[in-house]
Amino acid sequence: MAVKAHALDKIVSLCKRRGFIFQSSEIYGGFGAVYDYGPLGIALKNNISQLWWRYMTQLHENIVGLDSGILMHPKIWEASGHVAEFHDPLVDCKQCKARYKADELTDKDPKSVDWSTMQCPKCGTTGKMTDPRQFNLMFKTQIGPVENEGSIAYLRPETAQGIYVNYLLVQGSQRLKVPFGIAQIGKAFRNEIVARNFIFRTREFEQLEMQYFVKPGTDDDEMKVWKKERFNFYTDGLGINKDKIRFHQHGDGELAHYAKEAWDVEYEFPFGWSEIEGIHNRKDFDIKRHQEFSGKNMQYSDQVTNEKYFPYIIETSAGLNRMLLTVLADAYWEDTENNRTVLKLHPRLAPIKAVICPLVKKDGLPELARKVVDNLKNHFKVLYDQQGSIGKRYYRQDEAGTPFGITVDHQSLEDNTVTLRHRDSQKQDRVLITGLIDKIDEAILNYS
Ligand code: GAP
Repeated sequence: MAVKAHALDKIVSLCKRRGFIFQSSEIYGGFGAVYDYGPLGIALKNNISQLWWRYMTQLHENIVGLDSGILMHPKIWEASGHVAEFHDPLVDCKQCKARYKADELTDKDPKSVDWSTMQCPKCGTTGKMTDPRQFNLMFKTQIGPVENEGSIAYLRPETAQGIYVNYLLVQGSQRLKVPFGIAQIGKAFRNEIVARNFIFRTREFEQLEMQYFVKPGTDDDEMKVWKKERFNFYTDGLGINKDKIRFHQHGDGELAHYAKEAWDVEYEFPFGWSEIEGIHNRKDFDIKRHQEFSGKNMQYSDQVTNEKYFPYIIETSAGLNRMLLTVLADAYWEDTENNRTVLKLHPRLAPIKAVICPLVKKDGLPELARKVVDNLKNHFKVLYDQQGSIGKRYYRQDEAGTPFGITVDHQSLEDNTVTLRHRDSQKQDRVLITGLIDKIDEAILNYS
């Protein structure tokens, strides 16, 4: 019987064992809430982000790409509201020094709580909690050799603002007409106080953001379109199980200061339903604020109707690392019948598409297997493996999510055929070496 593993630590240890994800700075005891991506992790991450990029900028003719700087003019973060609003209220226990985000300890507005009556969950002392202090989540740094007010810069906490401040340059240079979108992939940084659940919430992460500029009045309809598109991306693009993904709408108390309407795409992780992506109607909040703070005209000018207006923005904002965790959690499968662990990754996403194994290390089989590698490597990322029994070699690759195993045996020397093994079913076909590329392409296309 197929059993889905519910423990995050099993995924964490597979990720380390197979070279997907490592704790940062491990030899120094680790560095909180930062992770490094090993050979398979970076390959899987790239495959996911390239799929997103293709969905956005290739399948939509009116969406273009951008790569703006991580460091930007500090006024941008005043205009965006991050300097004033991007805070977590924190409380400390004066007895044991434990620190909490206020919303971990109460569902109420932190200002309305009498913190002097609160018990510390760690040491159990009552009456020793501080009142909440506001803690800004942006990382500050300094530009130039002298540290003063004028030298402050921030590591961007989202990629979105780089799009807003460039939107007229992009629109003008590409002669785009509303509605159009700008997509960006890049690092973002947040000084998260409570970072947990592996790569779910980290201090350094990557965002996949797309800002869609629409005419005010059409925003509600565009929101519906984008909700549907983004849901389909997870199910059809990444191959995520439909039952494990849902929408959550933000209520009045949850809405960000810029949002008219907001929906989270959530996945049922081993630690519960949690957000992977936010879809927001940001109205014209950002564009107007940048006009106010920069003094530059930020209106869109319609060349046909001569209208000038501030476009509304529908934003789709996802964390690449969370998408990766979603893909890993969804693919993790303990095949107890066959005593193996499998990452049932969609073959489109798999870091290695096929492992090529000579049955034995002699009789000319390694040489022929090397020729198969040479034939395939222009088309797919493949791996040559001659270490250990053939069963062990396959099981290693099952854990790495490799969808196909190719074995070169003695019959191969006679008729130029090999066995092609399918990871999930473990079924094997006998295939001509010259037909391998087509067979694998077909299997990737028809995978379900
Ligand atoms: N531009 C809008 C924005 O940044 P957000 O809800 O703060 O909105 C969007 O973040 C997405 O970025 C989240 O859905 C999540 O996937 C990802 N994200 C945010 N903070 C993160 C963190 N500390 N670690 C990993 N991913 C994070």
